[in-house]
Amino acid sequence: MQITTSTLQNMAKQGQKIAMLTCYDATFSSVLDEAGVDVMLIGDSLGMVMQGHTSTIPVTLEEVAYHTRCVARKATRSLILADLPFGAYLESPQQAMASSVTLMSAGAHMVKLEGGEHMLETVRFLVARGVPVCGHIGLTPQSVNTLGGYKVQGKTDAAAERLKAEALALEAAGVSMIVLEAVPAKLAAEITASLTTAATIGIGAGVDCHGQVLVLQDMLDIYPGKKARFVKNFMKGQSSIQAAVKAYVNAVKDASFPTAENSF
Ligand code: KIV
Ligand code: NA
Repeated sequence: MQITTSTLQNMAKQGQKIAMLTCYDATFSSVLDEAGVDVMLIGDSLGMVMQGHTSTIPVTLEEVAYHTRCVARKATRSLILADLPFGAYLESPQQAMASSVTLMSAGAHMVKLEGGEHMLETVRFLVARGVPVCGHIGLTPQSVNTLGGYKVQGKTDAAAERLKAEALALEAAGVSMIVLEAVPAKLAAEITASLTTAATIGIGAGVDCHGQVLVLQDMLDIYPGKKARFVKNFMKGQSSIQAAVKAYVNAVKDASFPTAENSF
């Protein structure tokens, strides 16, 4: 059965963990859909893993739409979430709406955008017009040039309070989910407990989020270079990619991933 926005909110309410992975093409779409991945994210991380860039900044709306179409053709159960890329939503709610129409026409069921306070008006605008929205706070890679690198966020009391307030404000503005990236596990747990309708999805945010996400090429351990602390190699001990993806889904569902060694 097709997973919808309300399925995810019910899972969060009932304490059933949500398993999300990034996906950019039709073959992996079939594999992930079959393995029981609840949400497939066409992340702007495709800038790195598909295109070889060093950041998500150069990714265009048409490129995300292209990969969304590839994934959507083979998905039967997973909810399809597509990233609004850097250049395609920050100017105005109207620009964000037009870009969301492009992504939803390509097959997305929900769009994701980065940022807290400055995104509230846009979230309200989109949700009122039929676009389910996922927020993304903590380490927001599109802001790498102002954050000064890919670093853990919310480490000071003031920064933690700011993140808590942002999560609540995003929920009040109407987001269905919020990705929490690279924040201390304790803070992510507090944020998760404070929300009533929105589901939290952690990446480097501890086990107490309502769900988890990783970049596919990271969890298969095929992306070259240094791995982030929050990445676990799910290929280890498995004889196929299908089995590795199933192992990830199972580990998210039974909360055996992430452990403290994959958290901050
Ligand atoms: O683009 C991406 O892959 C993401 C996830 C890491 C959450 O935004
Ligand atoms: Na992203």
